[in-house]
Amino acid sequence: MKFTKAPCLKGEITIPGDKSISHRSVMFGSLAKGTTEITGFLEGADCLSTISCFRQMGIDIERTGDTVLVHGKGLRGLTAPRKVLDCGNSGTTTRLLSGILSPQAFDVTITGDESIQKRPMNRIIQPLTQMGANITSLGNNGCAPLRICGRTLHGIHYLSPVASAQVKSAILLAGLYAEGETRVTEPYLSRNHSELMLKQFGAQVSAQENTVLIRPAKELYGCKVDVPGDISSAAFFIAAGLMVPGSEILIKHVGINPTRSGILSVCQAMGGQISLLNEQYKTGEPTADILVRHSSLHGTKIGGAVIPTLIDELPILAALACFAEGETVIQDAAELKVKESNRISAMAAGLSAMGADVTETEDGMVIRGRKPLHGSTIESHFDHRIAMTFAVAGLCAEGETEVLDAECVNISYPGFYRDLMGLVQGR
Ligand code: S3P
Repeated sequence: MKFTKAPCLKGEITIPGDKSISHRSVMFGSLAKGTTEITGFLEGADCLSTISCFRQMGIDIERTGDTVLVHGKGLRGLTAPRKVLDCGNSGTTTRLLSGILSPQAFDVTITGDESIQKRPMNRIIQPLTQMGANITSLGNNGCAPLRICGRTLHGIHYLSPVASAQVKSAILLAGLYAEGETRVTEPYLSRNHSELMLKQFGAQVSAQENTVLIRPAKELYGCKVDVPGDISSAAFFIAAGLMVPGSEILIKHVGINPTRSGILSVCQAMGGQISLLNEQYKTGEPTADILVRHSSLHGTKIGGAVIPTLIDELPILAALACFAEGETVIQDAAELKVKESNRISAMAAGLSAMGADVTETEDGMVIRGRKPLHGSTIESHFDHRIAMTFAVAGLCAEGETEVLDAECVNISYPGFYRDLMGLVQGR
């Protein structure tokens, strides 16, 4: 897919549903008694992998227009799948499902695509094993495929070495079935969608600072979930609006949960003109319309507790930093190396190829901004967020930018290119 300089971006856009919340709505709905009605569900490949896994475990899931109906069978209602469960490219499906499957009364194998088979799973194997789970990495390399043999579990207090919502959620889901209480303490607070939604489904969950506690549940109960727009997808339009001269974009109904909204405060700290309009609080998640205007930006330091709140937005923030005066330092972000691709090296390579001044570091990168970008051929590494980042960068570069394997955006945002190009004015 090829991109050239855009004169300006203007208009209004409603972006697709939040990926993290969509996954959880299907998972928790499957484990609940009764029907869960989901609106705004993200029809991206990752969330469809989650639907497919639960269908193979006997859950009836209907998709009609914008609504997904999950006919849950209760906490003990899943049945053994007939074949290996394929989580595709989805880390959330693989890790959260491991927590759900560990206490079941059957054995199962789960796997995923080439990228998933390289991503670290010891981070969930270790705590779940401490709870009594029996999980084997079949390649003996700490990665999927994973063989999970159902066992009775007991609660633990896990001090997680990483701030990861996928790790935290896997443990909490196992904790629903465990004997006694389960606690997870993280170094920094990661996204808390599981905690909020589990409560809505009737689980006993409480949180204090960076520790979450869950008590074993007798049942969860189906409910209505309205999935807000994904701030991680909105991020590309926020950055594009700030970067392209003369732009003004209104992004409607975006989730602004504080454990996800670090991009807003960081962009504002860089001098970005971003306003929140129409703030609302529906079904447990705060939302707002985000108005973005082209702005003169300056560099900043991004590290510490803010990192988990913008972990998926760091690729586009790195591109944004190329348009900011002075230096931007991204640190404490070594987690980027174990995402769908190594996002530190993918970003450093792509931005350097476009003429940016970027230095890769052990846990992030340093970008010295305002070197003009020129078009180049960019490896997306089949990583949706890398592809979307360079599509946006291509709108601000001289000449032509080609993003390879660009269709990988279907993981989180089918229709991304159409929506982005729909805002381009004056060509
Ligand atoms: C996710 C958590 C994050 C994020 C991923 C989705 C989730 O991963 O990068 O895209 O849905 O819980 P970690 O929690 O492993 O950092």
